Amino acid sequence: MDYENIVVEKDGAVGIITLNRPQQLNALSYDLVKELAVAVEALDQDAEIRVVILTGGEKVFAAGADIKEMADAGPFDERLQGRLSFRDRINKISKPIIAAVSGYALGGGCELAMSCDIIIASETARFGQPEINLGTIPGSGGTQRLARTVGKHRAMEMVLTGEFIDATEAQRLGLVNQVVPVELLLEEAMEIAEKIAAKPPLAVELAKEAILKAFNSPLDEGLEFERKCFYLLFGSEDRREGMKAFLEKRKPQFKGK
Ligand code: CAA
Repeated sequence: MDYENIVVEKDGAVGIITLNRPQQLNALSYDLVKELAVAVEALDQDAEIRVVILTGGEKVFAAGADIKEMADAGPFDERLQGRLSFRDRINKISKPIIAAVSGYALGGGCELAMSCDIIIASETARFGQPEINLGTIPGSGGTQRLARTVGKHRAMEMVLTGEFIDATEAQRLGLVNQVVPVELLLEEAMEIAEKIAAKPPLAVELAKEAILKAFNSPLDEGLEFERKCFYLLFGSEDRREGMKAFLEKRKPQFKGK
């Protein structure tokens, strides 16, 4: 597929997707989100790729869903619903996805970053859920993921006032992993991506699934799932190789099997 609203590149085992509607501050239009879903799924299926980085470039991550597009929509508008179902597909990939956020990550943009597995922010990053100013509320997990990440009271404040927080505050609240100067954003995201890409892929996939389970299930159920994943990995060649290499004091050679 030829993309018009995003740019997709590969650097070794890392797939990099850059949102590319700079004139509209990367507003998440129907077409952009559709392309994003297709690209993310293609990288998830690509055997050469182990980790995905999602960025908006240095100036802006994404200023939210495209307001122009939504302005006249009704509740059953096909494109409104279609955009959100493409959006949901992005949450379902099995490979780790790292958001590299610079500038505004607002509304659907903040939600998009939060649905990634790791968030690296530049010093200019600003996070917010300003939907309240438009007479609506977050629609792609903002009330849920934000509350689970920063706690009820700060989530309430952000969603009810619509005010933004800066990168330092986002890090203090546990919303982002790291804050780096703008010019180092992609470099830092790449460094983490490459570290993960060097790990045994089956263990990475199940570790991601088990951590996400923690947000979706009671503790007993999550612990049971984790234990099953742990046992399952004993059937993998990479688990055998990892332990053997440790005992033989050499670097493991992982094959993804
Ligand atoms: N949708 C469509 N267009 C947008 C947009 C958006 N979310 N955000 C910015 N733009 C457009 C502006 O309309 C403007 O276009 P024109 O040049 O054609 O007028 C261009 O991007 C530049 O924007 P500004 O001139 O407003 O730039 P600024 O630097 O003065 O302000 C901003 C930046 C604070 C991010 C401001 O643009 C803004 O408040 N944007 C809207 C943020 C927002 O409310 N996001 C939530 C959307 S709803 C949502 O996301 C729902 C959901 O979860 C499902």
